[in-house]
Amino acid sequence: MAIRDYESKDGKMIFAGMNVEDIANEFGTPCYVTDEARLRENYRNVYKAFSKYMETEVHYACKANTNLAILRILQQEGAGIDAVSIGEVLTCLKAGFSPDKIMYTGVFVSTEELKQVAETGVLINLDSEYEMERLAQIKPGAPVSFRITPEVGSGHGEKVITGNKGAKFGIPRDRVVETYLRAQDLGLNPIGIHAHIGSGGQRVEPFIEEAEVLAELINQIEEAGISLQFVDIGGGIGVPYKPNEEEMDLGEMASEVTDVFEQNTNVRKIILEPGRYIICDATVLLTRCTDVKDAGIKKYIGVDAGFNTLIRPAMYDSYHYIQNGSRFGKACTAKYDIAGPICESGDYLGHERVLPEPAEGDVIVVYNAGAYGFSMSSNYNSRPLCAEVLVNDGKAELIREKEKIEEQWRHQIIPERLQ
Ligand code: LLP
Repeated sequence: MAIRDYESKDGKMIFAGMNVEDIANEFGTPCYVTDEARLRENYRNVYKAFSKYMETEVHYACKANTNLAILRILQQEGAGIDAVSIGEVLTCLKAGFSPDKIMYTGVFVSTEELKQVAETGVLINLDSEYEMERLAQIKPGAPVSFRITPEVGSGHGEKVITGNKGAKFGIPRDRVVETYLRAQDLGLNPIGIHAHIGSGGQRVEPFIEEAEVLAELINQIEEAGISLQFVDIGGGIGVPYKPNEEEMDLGEMASEVTDVFEQNTNVRKIILEPGRYIICDATVLLTRCTDVKDAGIKKYIGVDAGFNTLIRPAMYDSYHYIQNGSRFGKACTAKYDIAGPICESGDYLGHERVLPEPAEGDVIVVYNAGAYGFSMSSNYNSRPLCAEVLVNDGKAELIREKEKIEEQWRHQIIPERLQ
C-alpha cells in the first residue's frame, strides 16, 4: 500500500466520512484533523504484527503528537508511552496513563529533571553513566534500563539518524556490560535494554542489524550475571509519503526481528516505540488558499499555513503530498509551489505540484501531517498555534482550540522601569 486514498464527492475531498470544506468552515484554518479510526487501526497493526511472536508492548512515542485526546485514545487501546521530557511524562499521566505504562528516555538530562521524573514513578531508561550515578543517589534500588548506541543508523535524513557510532545518544557499545555491572554495584536494578536507530527508515535490514547487536549485548550482560526482562528496539518505522512509495513490510520486520531474540537470547518481551507509524497518516493539515501568484517562471498557491504550522518541509526537506480538497479529482492545469505566510523564502509546503487551478478559499489538504506536525509548530511571526480536530464516525470535535493572539503575551513582562 502506498499513501492513503481519499474519496471524492461532488469534487470535494471526504476525510473520515466528512467533507473537508465543512471541517474547515466549522473550525477555521489552518487546522490539523485526525481520523480516530485510523489512529486506532495503526496502533493495532503494530501490536498485532509483533505480539504474534513475542510478548509485546507498544509504547507510543508521544513526541509525535501529545494532544490529550489522542493520548487518551491510545491509552484506551492499551498502549504504553515513550516520553522524553518531564513535560511529556506529566502530560501522559494527565491523559490517564499509569506510571507503569510510561518509560522515560532523556538525553543530557538535568539533575532537576531527573529528580522530577523519578518522583513520578515511571521507568527511567538511562542514557549516560553520569545519569546512572545521579539516579542511584536520587532513587536507590530503582529499576532501570539503558539506552545503548547500537552503531546502526537509519532514517529519512541525517538529522534524524540516532544510532550511529559517536551519536550523542546512549551508552557506547564497548562500555555496556561494565555499565550494567556498575548499576548493580550502585544498588540499581537493571531490567531492560533499549536502542533507537533513527526515524522514518523504510528498510527492514537496519532493524535486524540493530536486533543482532542488542541480542549480543543481552547475552554478554547475562554472562556477567544479569538477566534482563525486556528488550526495547525503539521507534523509527517509516511510512510512505509519496503516492507510489512502497510501505515497509511490518510483518516481515516483526517476524525477523523477533526471530533474532527468540533464537539467540532468553529475553521474551519486546517493546517498540513507534511515533510516526501510529499518528502520521491518521492526520491531515487543512489550510486555505489565500492568494494565487504568477511569478513569471513560477506559480504560487499562497496558503495560511507556513513553517510555523508544519516545519518538516523547511527543516528536513520532507515531502508531503498535497491536494486541493475543494477541487478534488479535477483536471490539473499547472505546476505550483505551495507556500505560507512566513517572511522567509524557505517557507514552503511543497514544490512543483501539479494541481487544478485554485481560487482564494479553496481548502488545500496536506497529507501525512500527524507525526511531528502540530508538535513542532511554533509562534514564529507571532502567529497563534492552530486548532486540532478529531473526526470519529462522521462527526468532528475540537480537541485543541486555536490559540488567541493575546495568549502569546501571557508570560511576558515589561519591567516597571520601562513603563
Ligand atoms: N524512540 C525514541 C527514543 C526516539 O527518539 C524517537 C524519535 C522515537 C522513539 C519515535 O520515532 P518514530 O517512530 O516516530 O520514527 N521530527 C522528526 C522526527 C524526529 C524523531 C525523534 N525521535 C520528523 O519530523 O521527521
